[in-house]
Amino acid sequence: MALSVVIFGAGRVGQALGQRLHAAGVDLLGYVGRDPARTAAAIAWVGDGKVPVVPAHTHAQAHVVLFAVGDGDLPAAVRSAAAQHAPRPCSLWLHTSGRHGLEVFDGVPGIRRGILHPAAPFADGRSASASIAGAPAVVVGDTNARTLLQGLCRRLGMQPVLGQPGDRTLYHAACALAANGTTALWAAAQAAMSASGVLDAAAAAKVVAALVAAADRSCQERGPAAALSGPVRRGDAATVLAHVQALQQHAPASAAAYRSLSVLALALAQQAGLAAGDVAALARALGVSPPT
Ligand SMILES: NC(=O)c1ccc[n+]([C@@H]2O[C@H](COP(=O)([O-])OP(=O)(O)OC[C@H]3O[C@@H](n4cnc5c(N)ncnc54)[C@H](OP(=O)(O)O)[C@@H]3O)[C@@H](O)[C@H]2O)c1
Repeated sequence: MALSVVIFGAGRVGQALGQRLHAAGVDLLGYVGRDPARTAAAIAWVGDGKVPVVPAHTHAQAHVVLFAVGDGDLPAAVRSAAAQHAPRPCSLWLHTSGRHGLEVFDGVPGIRRGILHPAAPFADGRSASASIAGAPAVVVGDTNARTLLQGLCRRLGMQPVLGQPGDRTLYHAACALAANGTTALWAAAQAAMSASGVLDAAAAAKVVAALVAAADRSCQERGPAAALSGPVRRGDAATVLAHVQALQQHAPASAAAYRSLSVLALALAQQAGLAAGDVAALARALGVSPPT
């Protein structure tokens, strides 16, 4: 018997995961949305248009009930689904939220609880259905849910990474820092580089992309402390001060980010062996106390 799945939420994540599950031979019973017409339009491309919009009580037939609704809507969506019909005994109820834990399923009787958080950006459903192949999915679940969660990851073509319940808000903040923080940093660096007049916007985009990719590769190869290069690592306080002043004049919003990131870089430089006098001079240039 094929694994049967119902998805609540036909947004970016719901569409992409549904498409991949359908392509993997899973019996995708359908999508539950808030508005049937909007939901039908959103999933028109999923499974070549053969996946239906279904009523919420369809979850009672499913082995797996997947909630891909926004973080703010998740607790109410779970409560409302459970109120529609008793769950299929031992079915796996899971969500894709980085922020919420297993507690959103508290009070839903007789289920296995799980989280499958794709550690990947979903700009839109269609492109993400291709780009998430091979990306990590952080899975957390009841003991009797873990095998099925890992099986779902395999069907999705994602790499399962087993996690613990932990502090979900802190975990999610770290995800946002890595993914959205890098995007914001990319944009700020490109804008400042274009504003310098040395390169036009297209050339600046190319150079920024190469620098970000090289920094990423180096961190993976040798760890961040050994990977750090540039004026903070060299102990060049005069250059750092000049950078802050130039950014303050031409891109003031980026000056604050430069300062904050340089303070973090200073701690890495210290770990990597920067001399105490250089650390103190850099801390003065950045207007902070030296790291301890
Ligand atoms: N986007 C990402 O990069 C990403 C990455 C990893 C994890 N996630 C997580 O995945 C979840 C979904 O994110 P998303 O980006 O796909 O959000 P999204 O594009 O905003 O889609 C959410 C969908 O859920 C629907 N919905 C809301 N309440 C519902 C309910 N009670 N019943 C059924 N459907 C309901 C919304 O319908 P309406 O049309 O009525 O609003 C919308 O179609 C979030 O928890 C998010 O944190 C997102």
